[in-house]
Amino acid sequence: MSLRITSYEEYQDKYAQSVNSPEEFWSEIAETFTWKQPWTKTLDWNFSEPKIKWFEGGKLNITENLLDRHLATRGDQVAFYWEANDIDGEGKSITYSELHAEVCKLSNAMRELGLAKGDRVCIYMPMILESVVAILACARIGAIHSIVFAGFSSNALADRINDAQAKLVITSDGLNRGNKQVDIKSMVDESLLSCPSIEHSIVVDCIHSNPEMKSDRDLWYHDIMEGQSTTCEAEIMDAEDMLFILYTSGSTGKPKGVVHTCGGYMVYTSYSFQNVFQYEEGDVFWCTADIGWITGHSYIVYGPLLAGATSVIFEGIPTYPNPGRFWQICEKYKVNQFYTAPTAIRSLMGCGLDVVNCYDLSSLKVIGSVGEPINQEAWHWYHDNIGKKNCPVVDTWWQTETGGIMLSGLGNLSPMHPTHAGYPLPGIQPVLLDAEGNEIIENNQEGYLCIKFPWPSILRTTYGDHDRCKNVYFSNYDNYYFTGDGAKRDENGMYRIIGRVDDVINVSGHRFGTAEIEDAINTNQYAIESAVVGYPHDIKGQGIYAYVVIDSNKIEDSATIISSLIESVSTGIGKIAKPDKIQLVTGLPKTRSGKIMRRILRKIAEGEKSNFGDTSTLLDPSLVEDIVEKSI
Ligand code: PRX
Repeated sequence: MSLRITSYEEYQDKYAQSVNSPEEFWSEIAETFTWKQPWTKTLDWNFSEPKIKWFEGGKLNITENLLDRHLATRGDQVAFYWEANDIDGEGKSITYSELHAEVCKLSNAMRELGLAKGDRVCIYMPMILESVVAILACARIGAIHSIVFAGFSSNALADRINDAQAKLVITSDGLNRGNKQVDIKSMVDESLLSCPSIEHSIVVDCIHSNPEMKSDRDLWYHDIMEGQSTTCEAEIMDAEDMLFILYTSGSTGKPKGVVHTCGGYMVYTSYSFQNVFQYEEGDVFWCTADIGWITGHSYIVYGPLLAGATSVIFEGIPTYPNPGRFWQICEKYKVNQFYTAPTAIRSLMGCGLDVVNCYDLSSLKVIGSVGEPINQEAWHWYHDNIGKKNCPVVDTWWQTETGGIMLSGLGNLSPMHPTHAGYPLPGIQPVLLDAEGNEIIENNQEGYLCIKFPWPSILRTTYGDHDRCKNVYFSNYDNYYFTGDGAKRDENGMYRIIGRVDDVINVSGHRFGTAEIEDAINTNQYAIESAVVGYPHDIKGQGIYAYVVIDSNKIEDSATIISSLIESVSTGIGKIAKPDKIQLVTGLPKTRSGKIMRRILRKIAEGEKSNFGDTSTLLDPSLVEDIVEKSI
């Protein structure tokens, strides 16, 4: 059942096979899973509509592949070790058979509530085992989950619930985060004031805060689970039925619901997990992401469980109660593969080696990075001090839309080069395009990173708006999937990601559209207009710099205005999107046709004082001088 490639030569062979006969290649892999009915057509696609169908006619339930399939051989094996926020908190673990029973119980309870195949369920939860149960219970009964990261505000949550027209929300009374407890139930309550599609909310008693329960709507998780059968017939799904929606930010408009489907996502997450991390039987894997992001979906929940892996889930944060927490957990569970984000590495780098060297990290075999480019310094620190120069660093490039890792080394099999994501996984055909859409053949040239052939876990649509999917990803260049990233390829064929080429910024590995933040700022009573750009930030990768034009009729000191603007972003999106710098300005640099010259604002945010290139189209050049003078 192992899908693991075990040598670099084998990788090269598989890669060639995956390009020459992709359908055969993926069929062979897909056949290793449990299908209720085999597919009739492996791939049907065009990137112009776009229409992408993998394993058409195939019927399955993904939970049978990640739970039932393992029961005979690994029922008693731990699926997850759960580590509490508090270092001396009581940890838990759950075996495959226990997880199967819990998922079945919740599935039965959800069916009793009237939930059925195709219904949408919003999950707004902490990093607890019940979150995994909730996700899998949705998949078991064919309901489509839409997980919303619990750091998003009630407004952001309401937008996502309404877009998906979810019938049920699963949440908790609150969550533990470092030395704080956050009341998330009241956030949900607030959202639900404007979410008429919601019929019920299921609430996990996580922090025992005794919240107010709305009698006709709110149900305790422990109450509905009581007396439920530990078996549950899995819904029969088509390979192309939706598995989940995950909202992500783009250049324009509100976040869009990226849709992934059952069959292709299953095949690709399992395959990529086993190969990138070189997961071997008995290993312990730990991905530190939150389940609210795609990394949590694919490499905490689906990929590892499909592979029958044992993983760690951590409720807390890397710096509580001290910055050695990650390394202490690695030692405690003898973690073999560790997967985190450069922002975490950069923040821990500053805390000295005493909190690293006091832990035994000798179990580590592969260490991974995801979410943003990893800079040289962080790469070396990670490689030298965490991997002890013994572990390959897999710098995994991928996106919410790709479903799984696209460019990366495969454990210790592939050569690695700091700051280079490396080679495409089998089945992935990346190209670099120039502005005219020509493929760049020469090495070391920067181009737009596109993919020219579908892979099983490519997004299928954006929920409720297929045109948007077409416009954002498939219209920039005909017959290519456009990633939104710029990249280079070196003489060895390795890819290096430069960063986004659109108005998306990547703050601590979290993705925001500048327009989305501007919209939140513009709701503020003092704001007339705003422009948001990213700028290099030592820890976060990119920081958020907001230029805000203030209503001159509203006299208030700037500190009051700035805190009010921050509040608007926290309310509109969440604290995670708070600008790092806010500059109050009298106007924004615009062209005569009224377009904001973001290029100039980006340069100012980067600390540039002059050298703004061609400014001949500027309506009022004196504005730029004024902004530069008062820049932060
Ligand atoms: O710009 C790339 C960056 O993160 C974007 C995708 O963000 P999201 O959909 O939130 O998914 C993040 C986790 C998969 C990409 O367009 N990105 C992701 N991984 C890397 C990266 N940039 C450089 N190197 C990476 N390894």
